[in-house]
Amino acid sequence: MPAERTVQISGSTVIVRPNAEAASRVAADSIAEIVESAVKARGKAVLGLATGATPEVVYANLAARHRAGGLSFQKVVTYNLDEYYPIQPIDPLSYRSYMHRHLFSRVDLPANQAHVLDGTVPEAFVREHTAEFDRWIEADGGLDLQLLGIGRNGHIGFNEPAEWSVAEAVAAPTRLVELHPVTRADAVREFGDAAKVIPRALTMGVKQILSARAIVMLATGPRKASIVAQALRGPVTTAVPASLLQTVADRVVWILDEPAAAELGS
Ligand code: PGA
Repeated sequence: MPAERTVQISGSTVIVRPNAEAASRVAADSIAEIVESAVKARGKAVLGLATGATPEVVYANLAARHRAGGLSFQKVVTYNLDEYYPIQPIDPLSYRSYMHRHLFSRVDLPANQAHVLDGTVPEAFVREHTAEFDRWIEADGGLDLQLLGIGRNGHIGFNEPAEWSVAEAVAAPTRLVELHPVTRADAVREFGDAAKVIPRALTMGVKQILSARAIVMLATGPRKASIVAQALRGPVTTAVPASLLQTVADRVVWILDEPAAAELGS
């Protein structure tokens, strides 16, 4: 199979590149394009952003474009997918800190246009906070683009595998959730010790994710090969939350490196 290819699978466009660097460049290209076209069309661009190891190279790429003078975030508004709960924003393990390190401090994004769910909200007010987050997205005219990664268990944001119906899952709003055992195991990489992993999080709902006008899913490395194949080729099931993207397939672009695409077949 050619190392660079674009194919259609289950109604979605799937772009494959030989390595993570090249795949991340394609993701950065699509973000830059959507920023430019949305700013031109409606005066601003509203981006849903992701954290984790995978998008780090994408953010480095966007920051480099900004430094080179070609890309401004002055008219960009961002909403992050998730945040641990509870956590202080200045905690180096918070996703607010992650975003500051990898993107916010490196570009000209105005501070009050960068939204990350707040891990310090008292629990009694979490529902109010998450409902407000959804209202802000709506008031901003919805997401022009949602950038996603995929967990080894198929999660998108922290929408974890769960025993509920597809209809319930696709209507799920932004909310407080318990992290799945696979997610907690993978978070040991960041927290250093299983006992220190924060077991709950605030996550953007599947509803908000699926409402984005464009969805870019970036997955790299051999550890993602099996779940990528299940999400793209398997049935739509809440056991694999990323398979719910098939319900809006024509708005989804999967960007993969060769190792992550290895189990897709031809
Ligand atoms: P990763 O996380 O990029 O660190 O593999 C992806 C995800 O859980 O969405």
